[in-house]
Amino acid sequence: MCGIVGYQGRNEAFSILIDALKKLEYRGYDSAGIAIWHDKSIEIIRRKGKVDDLRKAASENKIKGTMGLAHTRWATHGIPSERNAHPHKAGDVVVVHNGIIENYMEIKEQLKKQGHRFTSDTDTEVIPHLINSYIEKGEGFIDAVRLAIRGLEGSYALGIMRQKERIMIAVKKESPLIVGVVDGESVFASDAPAIIDMTNKLIFLEDNDIVVFKDGGFRIMDIDGNEINRKVHTVNWTGAMAQKGGFKHFMLKEIYEQPRAITETLIGRVREEKAEVDLDELKLPDMKDIKKIWMVACGTSYHACLIGKYIFESSLRIPVETDIASEFRYREPIMGRHDMLILVSQSGETADTIAAMKEGKKNGVYTLSICNVLGSTLSRESDGVIFTHAGPEIGVASTKAFTTQITVLFMLMLHMGRFLGVLDKKTVREKIVELKKIPHKIQSILNDAQKIEEMARRFITYKNFLYLGRGINYPSMMEGALKLKEISYIHAEAYAAGEMKHGPIALIDENLPVFVLSPHDRTYQKTCSNIEEVFARRGKVMLITDIYDHEMSGRADSILVIPSTIYELQPLLSAVPLQLLAYNIANLLGTDVDQPRNLAKSVTVE
Ligand code: AGP
Repeated sequence: MCGIVGYQGRNEAFSILIDALKKLEYRGYDSAGIAIWHDKSIEIIRRKGKVDDLRKAASENKIKGTMGLAHTRWATHGIPSERNAHPHKAGDVVVVHNGIIENYMEIKEQLKKQGHRFTSDTDTEVIPHLINSYIEKGEGFIDAVRLAIRGLEGSYALGIMRQKERIMIAVKKESPLIVGVVDGESVFASDAPAIIDMTNKLIFLEDNDIVVFKDGGFRIMDIDGNEINRKVHTVNWTGAMAQKGGFKHFMLKEIYEQPRAITETLIGRVREEKAEVDLDELKLPDMKDIKKIWMVACGTSYHACLIGKYIFESSLRIPVETDIASEFRYREPIMGRHDMLILVSQSGETADTIAAMKEGKKNGVYTLSICNVLGSTLSRESDGVIFTHAGPEIGVASTKAFTTQITVLFMLMLHMGRFLGVLDKKTVREKIVELKKIPHKIQSILNDAQKIEEMARRFITYKNFLYLGRGINYPSMMEGALKLKEISYIHAEAYAAGEMKHGPIALIDENLPVFVLSPHDRTYQKTCSNIEEVFARRGKVMLITDIYDHEMSGRADSILVIPSTIYELQPLLSAVPLQLLAYNIANLLGTDVDQPRNLAKSVTVE
């Protein structure tokens, strides 16, 4: 996610802002910028690259001033570049932004008709132009801001200044923004680490809060201009703790970010009333010609492909072949010109997956990547790309990237289903309704995390685990087993539940915990038979299901009940307890959860 810092006080703003911005680097970014106000003029410096590049560029200019804004950009619209970096300016108004303006295209078109000229590809740039358009109509600065934000849809945390007045304004809606309470000075930021060294008195702004900073003080108002009060929290975080938002590890923070990450992935794309999915950044080929779909990736992203196969084949009835990227090009895949190759990658830099994309291009097929990082190789070199908008994933073990990948695959299936005419509006609308409930259902699982932590305590002494699932639950269990392996270093193997009697059943005894994932879908009864087989051999079963089953309670050591949903979306819910189980076991064992031994966040070698 982008990072924002604002300062107004009696000290030189430049070094305060740069030092604060450095503490937001963990959020991941690709460019940075700063704007310093000095005696009715504003100096702006922006750089593609690191905050230190900014420091070098600006120190030569010795920028003076005691008020300013600074920003690190995590690109969502418009590739990483100096001209897309923030702050953005129109007239004498300067803005930094974290979030996504959903309706920026229509605002941009309206403003262009009024003669406004744009210099970037970002959604953000419409904001200073919109504010300035109200100022040009005679509105005061604060009123112009209030009028402008009424027209914005989407998520935004804003820092705003203008040359003519020594006033700074912050606005918060969905994207986080925190005000630091300091005597005689004003400071605000996207996240606590940026300001925790200046003060431990923090105000966590709420949606539609507007803060006006003037003469070292501030007042908070609602969108109608009514003054409001917000609680001042005194936190005892260290800087390092604050980067994780109070969570012990980035991985745990990212597990808890999933409701919001999926919401951001959906923003501006699903239209329930029209029963449409709008993937505006996508340039699809003539889909009527598509005869076969390939889905290729590595690791967790490969598990997303396996789930994607169920999602696509059940609705589109187009054959989907999946493969591990490191195997794909060596099998000389037989691809036809009516094929589509989908490549899934959080980093967009995985060497094997890039090689698979090149193999597809060599065969003349349309290549579509699903990535989380704008400007990444895969996203730039594929014929089409859909971004997951999960925000930077710092923990090496993939969590929110996985669930947002599945979310994008589900949206792509709906989009293609409507285009190909194989899904009627009623079906698509029903599926969109279920999809939009997922963030809330994940939150209900997270609210119950204590139960999962208690279960994890019972498993930390075991050296081997078996994960069983049928149908779409089988790749979900492959992902669950990978999570446990990669962060706790305990061996875990996922198996199709129906396949257990063809070999792995020989492993079953009281020393082998068997996790079974089985919501009440069409394979539930059959999976219950597998649980009986394990129970008969003294195996310890932990069952994850969506309806408590008294009969099974006599067979399973523990039963974890999660919310129900439609079959294709089950993996979005079952991923969360499996992530938390792995996390809690690893945390109890004391492994390096965020940087597990031998692992890299992006495997850029073949
Ligand atoms: C997942 O937890 C691992 N970090 C790893 O399997 C990862 O999914 C794989 O290396 C693929 O990475 P990518 O999604 O960035 O291509």
